[in-house]
Amino acid sequence: VSVTQTAPSPAAVFTDPRSRPIGVFDSGVGGLTVLCALRDELPAESLVYLGDTARLPYGTKSLSTVTRYSIQAARVLVNQGIKALVVACNTASALALDDLALEFYDVPVIGVLRPGADAACLGSTTGRIAVVATESTVGHGAYEKAIRRIRPEAHVVSRACSLFVALAEEGWTSGPIARAVAHRYLDPLFEDGRPGEAPDCLVLGCTHFPPLTETLQQVVGPDVVIVDSARTTAHVVREVLAKRHLLAEPGTAATIRLMATDSPARFARVAANLIPGDTLPDRIELIDL
Ligand code: DGL
Repeated sequence: VSVTQTAPSPAAVFTDPRSRPIGVFDSGVGGLTVLCALRDELPAESLVYLGDTARLPYGTKSLSTVTRYSIQAARVLVNQGIKALVVACNTASALALDDLALEFYDVPVIGVLRPGADAACLGSTTGRIAVVATESTVGHGAYEKAIRRIRPEAHVVSRACSLFVALAEEGWTSGPIARAVAHRYLDPLFEDGRPGEAPDCLVLGCTHFPPLTETLQQVVGPDVVIVDSARTTAHVVREVLAKRHLLAEPGTAATIRLMATDSPARFARVAANLIPGDTLPDRIELIDL
């Protein structure tokens, strides 16, 4: 990993608004799952990513702290001249999305929570939906509210699964330890209650969780639909940009720029565990907010 310790360089002057980058923000490294989904869905788009690793985790922090941190981090990206802001953090999407949209009213702000809720409502036949997320996202009842806005009769059960974050960061996403932790968290959601009343859909309400999908599928069984908000968010970003005529020309040479607020070396190490085999730029810029 090569490290640069600089303030972010000023926004380039973009003559064509379609060539402006998409800004992607997360509390840390987990949002890279969304970045990769965006890169795969929109290969002509340049992406600029900020992981606020110095202040991670957001998932245990209060509404006012998450909101303040999110606005500060988003401002760095907005100052880069982004054409859309993707809040690739479920906690920030759950707690701070409205404030971000108000603060940066001239940039479309897209969170991961509503696309995740939409996908859950589509994926569930019975309307019985389980959500796994961070403590703050669950405490805020954010998914439950978003899902019930679309399907008022839905029955939503949620559980904070803090250890999934650590497992994903260590790269321990399969094997006996991951399975044991998954059973401990998920069995009460899927096995308690009367037969036939178990959820038929599991929402991964945290950007760290997609690497655990295979293990979680083994634990909940093949009939449960697992919803990953990374891919659904990328679809929403495409729609939002298309509506505003802001999609980059196909074939445009896209760039990916990565920034973090603490230890680029750790960022690179955790990223390698979280998205193994995925090639992202080596260079990670260390910035201060
Ligand atoms: N990115 C956070 C989320 O998706 C998980 C890590 C954290 O707690 O900051 O909720």
